[in-house]
Amino acid sequence: MDRLTLKNVSAYYRQLIVNKEVYVRAVDDVSLSVKKGEVLGLVGESGCGKTTLSKVMMMNINPPLEFIKGEVQLTRRDGEVIRLHKMSRRLLKNFVWGKNISIVPQEAMSALMPTLKIKRIAYDLVRSHDPNAKLEDVVERLEKRLEELGLPDYIADRYPFELSGGMAQRTVIAVATLLNPEVLIVDEPTSALDVLTQRIVLKTLADLMVKNIVDSMVFITHDIAIVRQIASRIAVMYAGKIVESAPTEDIIFNPLHPYTKGLIESITSLEPEVRKRGVKYIPGQPPQLINPPQGCRFADRCSFVMEKCKKEEPPLIKIGEGREVACWLYVKR
Ligand SMILES: Nc1ncnc2c1ncn2[C@@H]1O[C@H](COP(=O)(O)OP(=O)(O)OP(=O)(O)O)[C@@H](O)[C@H]1O
Ligand SMILES: [Mg+2]
Repeated sequence: MDRLTLKNVSAYYRQLIVNKEVYVRAVDDVSLSVKKGEVLGLVGESGCGKTTLSKVMMMNINPPLEFIKGEVQLTRRDGEVIRLHKMSRRLLKNFVWGKNISIVPQEAMSALMPTLKIKRIAYDLVRSHDPNAKLEDVVERLEKRLEELGLPDYIADRYPFELSGGMAQRTVIAVATLLNPEVLIVDEPTSALDVLTQRIVLKTLADLMVKNIVDSMVFITHDIAIVRQIASRIAVMYAGKIVESAPTEDIIFNPLHPYTKGLIESITSLEPEVRKRGVKYIPGQPPQLINPPQGCRFADRCSFVMEKCKKEEPPLIKIGEGREVACWLYVKR
């Protein structure tokens, strides 16, 4: 059963270049669903549109980003379907964000208000939905949640800067899920952390699922090696599009799209030290998103490229159980 469904969504950044308006097509005709009970990994290299897609999932659209087309709907635990793309920003803020869908944004830790204690941050979140909420009730709830996630309850009384990186990230996660949202999106939640702390944060995220605090999760990262430890399914994004999605094991052991193959090669065939130095395994660069080439956006870098790939865009087609791929190699004619 789908918890969150995106149908043919496009969201572009409007930009002025030499007095001419252009669009950066950061999310371009994306269809994707997040199922009940799953952790969906969203992977792809820097600039491919992952964070923009997370904004579309929340319908948190702010200039210069514009929602161009598509549908975004969320099915609540009580069965009611809410159509986020039809709602005003005010309604989303008062009734949906934090309550049905919540996000731990990229670099959330540094975005915490340094002058507010954690309990005050939590109180403000709850009050945006329930103006009558009492501080002591929120604090009690927060302390309980911190304990559930293996964190000491005195954190409620601390300022963000008093917490270590890992503690701060886990606290942000605890606060974001205080109202037990159906869907949680986490954007690069482990990227700024050392390996040991990464593992602890992954455990906290897994706990949210095990303890039914959230129903579904979208885990955004450029790092397949991390996300495979927690995701049941992985969607691969390239230049504003989903190019493949499949159960995690299939993506790792039997990738279909040439781009996914390249990503997997780069994690399995290079020494960690080499990877750290940022060696690119896939030669070339992703295309410009202002005037993306017609046809397949990966064609330039693809070692299997055919004439057709440069002219026509491959549709995302279903291939076997729970698998989808957008590549002409897999279209039977
Ligand atoms: N405010 C903006 N104005 C114009 N273009 C933008 C803006 N924000 C992002 N972009 C562009 O949109 C595209 C997608 O960016 P996005 O941040 O969604 O990528 P990402 O996959 O999250 O990257 P990263 O892995 O570095 O976080 C990029 O080409 C980026 O340059
Ligand atoms: Mg990002």
